[in-house]
Amino acid sequence: MGSVIAGTGMYVPDNVVTNHDLARIMDTSDEWITTRTGVKERRFADRGVGASDLAIEASHRALDAAGVGPSEVDVVVTATMTPDYMAPGIAGLVQEGLGLGHIAAFDLRQQCSGFLYGLDLADSLLTSARGEVALVVGAEVHAGFQPWSEASWQAVLGDGGSEIPREDYERNSRYRSWSVIFGDGAGAMVLRKSDNDVEGVLASSLHTDGASFELIMVPGVGSKSRPYVSSEQIEADTHLPVMDGGGLYRRAVRLMPEAARAVATKAGISLEDIDLIVAHQANDRITEGVRRQFKMDPQKVPSNIGGYGNTTAGTLPILFHELREAGRVNPGSLICFAAFGAGAHYGALLYREPESP
Ligand code: ACO
Repeated sequence: MGSVIAGTGMYVPDNVVTNHDLARIMDTSDEWITTRTGVKERRFADRGVGASDLAIEASHRALDAAGVGPSEVDVVVTATMTPDYMAPGIAGLVQEGLGLGHIAAFDLRQQCSGFLYGLDLADSLLTSARGEVALVVGAEVHAGFQPWSEASWQAVLGDGGSEIPREDYERNSRYRSWSVIFGDGAGAMVLRKSDNDVEGVLASSLHTDGASFELIMVPGVGSKSRPYVSSEQIEADTHLPVMDGGGLYRRAVRLMPEAARAVATKAGISLEDIDLIVAHQANDRITEGVRRQFKMDPQKVPSNIGGYGNTTAGTLPILFHELREAGRVNPGSLICFAAFGAGAHYGALLYREPESP
């Protein structure tokens, strides 16, 4: 009795920042970013726009696509690592912004695996009779944690004419290994409870490797600090992410396929039966590693990182929405969602597209 995806939607901000734009504010190049990550451009939200705003836009589109009105939604799950405020999370803002009434609304903090965990949680709620319709949304505004000055922002978003101070260029270059990867965006899905146990969400295999916690994290600005935010922390840049890119890469290419194999075994299906692996988009070389592990036709492990970068909790629903729009998800298609990210949380979920809508 899995839940079926009744509608999908996505929203990305209008501001496009290319690799060439980034090369104006730090020591990098389109060639390095393209060959090492696959990213060509990403979107960034305007100042004053938060993850909840993107989530609400994407959700409106998913609800429209599903033909579901706000009063029909029973539960909302929002996944983000870039909430509008330190606390609370964005679930309340999304519930209120969509006019959903006083229903249950959860925030998940599973970063790149946030949407996958959200899908599984929403499915469990529906299959355990907590409601008929769930909205799951992943949204990120990474613009806020870029280490860039106002002059740098003007240079990347402007006409390309402005020069930035030397010290800004040097600071931006210090953080180039992670700052070129991320972009802003949101994706949403409306799930509807189904009585049919051969379609919809079939099985999941979710995991956490807490020993890898420090591979990507924001070390400052939290309850271990007194006060939790201080000018000293900001001075020391502990409010910015630290990332061991190689460590993440090695685990992602091993653990995403491992989770995909585990979920296939659980559901009693063969990996060859999977039509599409919708994998988290952190780096095209990771997606390539997943393809190699499964010796799969590249078409079966699609990528859209070139246009958006890593949108963390947004990547799975954005990619799935684009594949559906492109006619790549057909009645009966067997889809494996897989993700790996900060925490380190990872896993996979199997989904069968219904034969009839
Ligand atoms: N432009 C130019 N040169 C760069 C850049 C850049 N943007 N970034 C790093 N370099 C340089 C380094 O300084 C280094 O130079 P050196 O050899 O002179 O010291 C060289 O390039 C190689 O650096 P590596 O870090 O070894 O590069 P690598 O090929 O590993 O790529 C990357 C780094 C892109 C970060 C890669 O490791 C990666 O994507 N890993 C996975 C990251 C990931 O999965 N993050 C997802 C989790 S996110 C989440 O959960 C929210």
